Amino acid sequence: MKGIILAGGAGSRLFPLTLVASKQLQPVYDKPMVYYPLTTLIESGIREFCLISTPHDLPRFRQLLGDGSQWGLSIEYREQAKPEGIAQAFLIAESFIGKDSVTLILGDNVFYGGDGFNRAFAEFTEGATIFGYHVNDPERYGVVEFDGEGRAISIEEKPKAPKSNYAVPGLYIYDNEVVAITKALKPSARGELEITAVNVEYLHRGELRVCRLNRGFAWLDAGTSSSLHEASAYVQTIEKRQGIKIGCPEEAAFRNGFLSLGQLEALTGKIPKCEYRDYLAELVAETKRLKAQ
Ligand code: TTP
Repeated sequence: MKGIILAGGAGSRLFPLTLVASKQLQPVYDKPMVYYPLTTLIESGIREFCLISTPHDLPRFRQLLGDGSQWGLSIEYREQAKPEGIAQAFLIAESFIGKDSVTLILGDNVFYGGDGFNRAFAEFTEGATIFGYHVNDPERYGVVEFDGEGRAISIEEKPKAPKSNYAVPGLYIYDNEVVAITKALKPSARGELEITAVNVEYLHRGELRVCRLNRGFAWLDAGTSSSLHEASAYVQTIEKRQGIKIGCPEEAAFRNGFLSLGQLEALTGKIPKCEYRDYLAELVAETKRLKAQ
């Protein structure tokens, strides 16, 4: 399965932070925001990525992430000239997707906890899989309504009167049909190719699976000054308490077998002296200790 990270958009709600650097390059506590969605997909076993951003911001992402080979990944880059909708990503990345299935994650979504995604990826064969997450303010998102048996019966984009509290987070899994479905879409009233319209099409075909993410799962979207600050505070709290890092691509690549211990050690040696380096050095040391037992 291929992975798309969508990291364009205007970021207007974060102005003036986003005047020179895009939203997804802003720090969430101790790392650039895009590290979090990248790590989520690495943890799900994705190795081939296409990152989509604006012509202005793309060079910065290239500078930050390179071709991915340092982490045992491959990362390609594509431009989205204007923010004409999340689903436009499937048209921009058509040649990258090829004949594969594809997952798309939004560059400003931070996920943590549980194995909700791992199971969904492992069980995915065809159609579409999206997620439902209970929130306080569903009207800001795509909202999914369930029947008594837990089956999804409707999805609406930013409804004024939401039919449930279940919002659809920014991680979607599709079979290859998604490209054809997107090609047949018309732009919405706000001039965008809507991801909700793609999901509605799969729903009508009877091929949409909606997995509810449980209580222990955190989904933070870092699109406003407050939510950006809250995401940073959350990451700091967990990292300090547990002594583990959220959103560390080196660790995820190593734990998934994309990097050998030797490669991780060499990579760690190149990082300047800082807390991030200490963390990876400890991971290397602990792995060696365990191996020696
Ligand atoms: P939004 O947060 O809805 O939009 P935005 O990032 O442009 O921010 P603002 O509303 O403050 O101007 O977008 C959600 C995510 O999807 C975000 O990571 C940007 C990305 N996105 C694109 O890359 N291209 C698009 O065409 C759209 C609509 C969103």
